[in-house]
Amino acid sequence: MDAVRSPLTAVDLFAGAGGLSCGLEQAGFDVLAAADHDPDVCATYRLNFPTTRLVEGDLTNRENREVVIDAVDGELDLLAGGPPCQAFSQMRNHDRLLADPRNRLYREFVDLLSVLLPRALVLENVPGMDQLKGGAVRQQIEEDLSLDGEYDVTSGVLDAGDFGAPQRRPRLVFIGVKRGLGAPELPAGTGITRLLRNGQCGGLRPDEQRAYWAEVLRNPDDARAVTAAQALSDLVLPGDEYTTEPASAFQRAMRVRSAGPQDHAPSRIRDDTVARLEAIPPGGNVYDLPERLMVRHLGERKWGPAGNGERLARRHYYAYRRLHPDWLAWTANTKADFAYHYSVPRGLSVREAARIQSFPDTFHFTTAPPGTLGQLKNGARHSRYRQVGNAVPPLLGAAVGRAVADMLGARRRDATPAVAV
Ligand SMILES: C[S@@+](CC[C@H](N)C(=O)[O-])C[C@H]1O[C@@H](n2cnc3c(N)ncnc32)[C@H](O)[C@@H]1O
Repeated sequence: MDAVRSPLTAVDLFAGAGGLSCGLEQAGFDVLAAADHDPDVCATYRLNFPTTRLVEGDLTNRENREVVIDAVDGELDLLAGGPPCQAFSQMRNHDRLLADPRNRLYREFVDLLSVLLPRALVLENVPGMDQLKGGAVRQQIEEDLSLDGEYDVTSGVLDAGDFGAPQRRPRLVFIGVKRGLGAPELPAGTGITRLLRNGQCGGLRPDEQRAYWAEVLRNPDDARAVTAAQALSDLVLPGDEYTTEPASAFQRAMRVRSAGPQDHAPSRIRDDTVARLEAIPPGGNVYDLPERLMVRHLGERKWGPAGNGERLARRHYYAYRRLHPDWLAWTANTKADFAYHYSVPRGLSVREAARIQSFPDTFHFTTAPPGTLGQLKNGARHSRYRQVGNAVPPLLGAAVGRAVADMLGARRRDATPAVAV
């Protein structure tokens, strides 16, 4: 085993707002450099990681990659990142992933890996890729990341809900370690997400394991499994002050060093939506609406394009989903309406979405000044929801970071522990 080195160093590529970086810091890493080309996420990243060298630019550009390389002085412990992988799903058998020009970002990750040669690597992505071509895509990624035997690589689907995030969110994670340093191992989570077979509002089967985890889930002081209410019940009233004491171990952990909940104004919704939400039970969705609320316009006011019929357009499973207070939340996505509150007929605030993603309340979201070159033009509020929804939940990042630190034999004794387990 290597001598204990502290702190471990990391580089985060395609860093977004910094969910993964936040988790890596919690695991004791010093994130030396990060890169992303979106001005809004860079504004947020800069705000939260003032000492990290942030490369704001396109990683397909060689100069930007060189700035990343220059930021690393000496041996790097970890190269991490989640490159968007556009073309994996269209791959034909025997295609080389690296050869497809649409997989350019993935190739940049592998290229930077071969230049920086860190002691370990982490690549994360959406889990759909797990099963592609009967697992051939996943196998090929493991092979690419091994750099012809330089690294031992393993991969698997990890669900943030198994690591104390109040949400089901599976991600496909690859972990590699330089050959000779030990076997790569994924962190072991609680497994509770697999036990919740019936989704948001089903019951647990009465075998022992389920009964045990049902008890853990019910206990607000046990942060191994966290319900939507245990995550959000101190935020029922919008505003920039805490109006109640924290009611769970998770809330206590999220509020450490935070003076108040930033970005805690619920998303704006129409009166029609309020009326529909009032008719949907916690954990329910559009399918719970009575027929009279399935008409498109409930009042006098008409909105949206004319000629779209008289029936409600949003009728898919994801429409009008309300959280269930006693279960993990629906997976956060980039939209404000991915879920609605469980006890009040309203949308969620950016802060509530961030809590569901396990961002601490001290982590603030912002945007670049309006009109900044390269900025996506759908408004500052939407940008914040997108930044939150695109992130790796920090608690999952922290679990992966700790697994890497353990593999490298260098876990810092003063690293922030997972939410008090
Ligand atoms: C899924 S998000 C990453 C989320 C991040 N890991 C987190 O935990 O917050 C993917 C990121 O890749 C960035 N990206 C996409 N194409 C890029 C490029 N060519 N160069 C740099 N960044 C790029 C996007 O702006 C986006 O922020």
